Amino acid sequence: MIMQKLATKTDEDGVLEFHDVTKLYGPTKALSSFTHRFDKGRVHALMGKNGSGKSTLVKLLAGVIQPTLGTMFVNGEQRQFTSPHDSFAAGIVTVHQELSLVPELTVGENIYLGRLPQRNVGGLSFVHWKKLHAQADALLQDMGVNIKSRQAVSTLSVGQQQVVEIAKAMSFNPSILLLDEPTSALATKEVNMLFGLVRRLKEQGVTMIYITHRMSELFDIADTCTVIRDGHYIGSVEMKDADHADIVGMMFGDEAHATRPPRRAIERSNPVLQVKNISRTHAFKDISFELYPGEILGIAGLLGAGRTEVMRAIFGADPLNAGSVTLNGKDVTGYTPRQMSQAGLGYTPENRKEVGLVQMAAITDNLCMASLDAVAKGGVITRAQEKPFVDKQIKDLSIKTDDPELPVSSLSGGNQQKVVIGKWLNTKPNVMFFDEPSRGVDVHAKRQIFDIIWEGAEHGLSSIFVSTELEEVLEVADRVLVMRQGEIVTEVDPTKTNLSELYGLCMEGAKN
Ligand SMILES: Nc1ncnc2c1ncn2[C@@H]1O[C@H](COP(=O)(O)OP(=O)(O)OP(=O)(O)O)[C@@H](O)[C@H]1O
Ligand SMILES: [Mg+2]
Repeated sequence: MIMQKLATKTDEDGVLEFHDVTKLYGPTKALSSFTHRFDKGRVHALMGKNGSGKSTLVKLLAGVIQPTLGTMFVNGEQRQFTSPHDSFAAGIVTVHQELSLVPELTVGENIYLGRLPQRNVGGLSFVHWKKLHAQADALLQDMGVNIKSRQAVSTLSVGQQQVVEIAKAMSFNPSILLLDEPTSALATKEVNMLFGLVRRLKEQGVTMIYITHRMSELFDIADTCTVIRDGHYIGSVEMKDADHADIVGMMFGDEAHATRPPRRAIERSNPVLQVKNISRTHAFKDISFELYPGEILGIAGLLGAGRTEVMRAIFGADPLNAGSVTLNGKDVTGYTPRQMSQAGLGYTPENRKEVGLVQMAAITDNLCMASLDAVAKGGVITRAQEKPFVDKQIKDLSIKTDDPELPVSSLSGGNQQKVVIGKWLNTKPNVMFFDEPSRGVDVHAKRQIFDIIWEGAEHGLSSIFVSTELEEVLEVADRVLVMRQGEIVTEVDPTKTNLSELYGLCMEGAKN
């Protein structure tokens, strides 16, 4: 079998070609007569704003969906993949935008799912657990990541789960690798690890399609960049000849770009949120801070520094072991998330798939879910009552959809993130926690989200803003707390701190 495959190996191996490929979802043209050839052995960045058709292209190659019109050629052969298995059999491995691990299983089981090593005892076949975990640990160690095969996936952060997805892809020795926003939840160290792997695969002649919203990554890792807008092929450039402005121009045409309003002086009296000496075993300890009316407080830190854990515990999603929380002058220590939200706190979580949205429910329902009390006065809810709320959010956040009655799962990744934010803004909170609000969101949509945070601040909304991208923390926040290993180590003024200083503060003495 293998000999035969080698014998038929051609120059077209690893080449991906699209001829006039169109993908329709009802009235939505997710991809429109797309024609392009992705050459072998190169890293092809695929760029485009939210909802432009990037994931659609990846899903076509991965056999998850089929084209409405047009033809695809893989390794020089015309192919119509009817299932992910077909695509896989053609040597294509895909890391999808949404995480797909089974949380109840261990890391090792997830990596080798469907092909667990077996051992034979008395004619019966059993899973060879020792071998499984040894193989997975070797793979993870080779990648230089500190995750163990026997850990349950449910105990991992989103970033760690993304690393496991990448490990799983690597374990297949792909000849074509599709990476749909593999770094959206990763911090610098993990991104560098991934780039190392990508470079190694490139040396082996692997063809890669790489999707990201982080522009700076392109210049680090990509050989070419192909831009797609509203489902149309716009053009491709060689990275060595391209600059940032060219690519943004191709992505957005002449759409306008929001800029940051000038910072206002924050009056440091009458805090809306007071956190005193809160601790949670194995997560964070002795955290104290105050948040003032209209203030945007950034929390900077590396993956695992405890930022999400602190926000979750204040919101009542996890119990506290010590300390107190006061919101709008009232002691709210020990409140449930529901009570917290009634008391005026909103929280957009980092993992929209698990806790942010109900994927199967309509966009409308998701937008109204957190604000049922406001929308449905007598407990009865009608579409007519929902409509003004929903229309406003769709317009304010530029959510790209043809029909708000469609399920949230029909939206592109970045547009789903906007629904999570819209859902909470509908509850009219006076304090908001934004945990990675710009993850997977294109440059313009990101500005729209920041604009919402800034505009809210002008009207008195106080926010906590967390982002793995430290540039964003410096840009968005009025004041920045730095967390390391579960503790607040210092506070900085973002107008007087540069990126490398902040990064240094986050890193200092950090464990690997
Ligand atoms: N199952 C579906 N049903 C209806 N419309 C869909 C479906 N899947 C995707 N779409 C639509 O197709 C378009 C392209 O979506 P796609 O997910 O490819 O965008 P994307 O470029 O990956 O965006 P993002 O950067 O936000 O991930 C969007 O308008 C999206 O709403
Ligand atoms: Mg996508």
